[in-house]
Amino acid sequence: MAEIPQPPGLPYIGSLFELDPKFTVKSLQRLGNIYGTLIYDIWIQKLNCLGPIYDLRILNISRIVVCNHELFDELCDENRFVKSVSGPLSQMRNLVHDSLFTAHPNEQNWGIAHRILAPAFGPVPIQEMFHGIYDIASQLVLKWARQGPSKPINVQDDCTRFTLDAVTLCTMGMRLNSLYSEEKHPFVRAMDGFMRESNYRAQRPHFVTRLLWWSRKQYDHDISFIRKFAKDLINTRRNNPTEDQDILNALIKGHDPKTGQQMSEESIIDNMVTFLIAGHETTSGGIAFLLYHIVKNQEVWQNVQKEVNDVVGSGRITSKHLSKLRYVTTCVRESLRLWPTIPVIAFKPKENHFPTTIGQDKFLIMPRQTVIALLPAIHRDSDIWGDDADEFRPERMTDENLSALPRNAWKAFGNGTRGCIGRPFAMTEMVLITALLAQNFDIDHDDPSHELNVDQIVTLRLRDFFLRVKLKPGLD
Ligand code: HEM
Repeated sequence: MAEIPQPPGLPYIGSLFELDPKFTVKSLQRLGNIYGTLIYDIWIQKLNCLGPIYDLRILNISRIVVCNHELFDELCDENRFVKSVSGPLSQMRNLVHDSLFTAHPNEQNWGIAHRILAPAFGPVPIQEMFHGIYDIASQLVLKWARQGPSKPINVQDDCTRFTLDAVTLCTMGMRLNSLYSEEKHPFVRAMDGFMRESNYRAQRPHFVTRLLWWSRKQYDHDISFIRKFAKDLINTRRNNPTEDQDILNALIKGHDPKTGQQMSEESIIDNMVTFLIAGHETTSGGIAFLLYHIVKNQEVWQNVQKEVNDVVGSGRITSKHLSKLRYVTTCVRESLRLWPTIPVIAFKPKENHFPTTIGQDKFLIMPRQTVIALLPAIHRDSDIWGDDADEFRPERMTDENLSALPRNAWKAFGNGTRGCIGRPFAMTEMVLITALLAQNFDIDHDDPSHELNVDQIVTLRLRDFFLRVKLKPGLD
């Protein structure tokens, strides 16, 4: 058995100061490069045998970090490992308790919510949701068209407005109209504050959090605001019932096909908030990274425009077109490979009593030990993706190329039963908005020398990213 290397740290605090609280993922990756590689060379003394792995100790809690595909592949085996709700995710339980996203594997409410809600993301409901997504996407196009070619557009801000409006309209029938407002929606402000503080809390000693009474007060305020916002949406629907087959009706009226149970009031709020957060934050970052890459590389952008022209022409895009936009789909996948907006997923051994191993019996994993999979590193493992793994090359993400890859090579939407329930919704949003923009605009970076500036508030998104858009000839 090999020992898992550990970055040196201070007593109790461990490696806390090695982490940049504003971009934890980058710090984790940096530590992986230093310590994971060290054991790789010196202790195992064999190249191409095992990839980076290290034991990160913070505040006396150990988390094993895995940074390559070979080890990650073992973690994805649901017979041996389950989701671990730890770090920022366990802090998020302060807001959404045992919701779909944050439930521990054994919690009953996960099963009830999953069985009630999974059908609401099936192919037929997604077709219905397409119209809502199209409606909001058209608002974004109109807004950008009105800005004219001389005004730089803050892409991340508008993507957040788009995805928040789309998820509330499609899943709850509610129009927030945040694309019409210059101010951030108060829900977004409260959610930003809550997520940032959850991230910080996961990295600081409990007693420090207790001492910071002003941030505790703000945190509690954000939680109350978000829950009240969700409760008001539910009450509005209860007072104005509809026959829509949307998520809100599924939450309010649905019966668990296994137990016949309905969801409790608390659980309805927990899951509504979960959809509002998970359903917009992830996709808004996803679209911003995608636009960054495809516009940075004008050849890719021209290919996108050509495909949209060939498949749709200048007419209205329909849901039937989406599956034919193969190149656009490869761009979305490739962007999520480089920048999976949920950058870490955590596992623990399924068996609570006996240690298990990974790395073909090389590394011992103790019962209840959290193992963090660092997706941006795993998605760039050169053994799988080659020496140009850091480059944006959509061609590698065709259906044929993907199916030729080893299993679990691309896991932007998570693993197995705890994988993303909103994946079809997110893919529809990302392909549709890209196609609509390509149909309408010539787009360029405001500052072509601009480098990626990544922000992390649990999920990844872009900071200071501006584009200039010009209506295509004939449309202006
Ligand atoms: C779970 C990624 C969009 C709702 C997950 C997980 C990942 C993920 C990696 C697993 C997390 C874990 O294991 O801890 C993404 C990405 C998205 C996206 C990259 C966009 C590009 C959405 C959307 C919705 C959504 C649009 C809802 C409308 C959820 C929910 C779960 C989840 C409820 C928890 C599922 C469960 O544990 O049963 N997502 N997601 N996501 N996602 Fe998404």
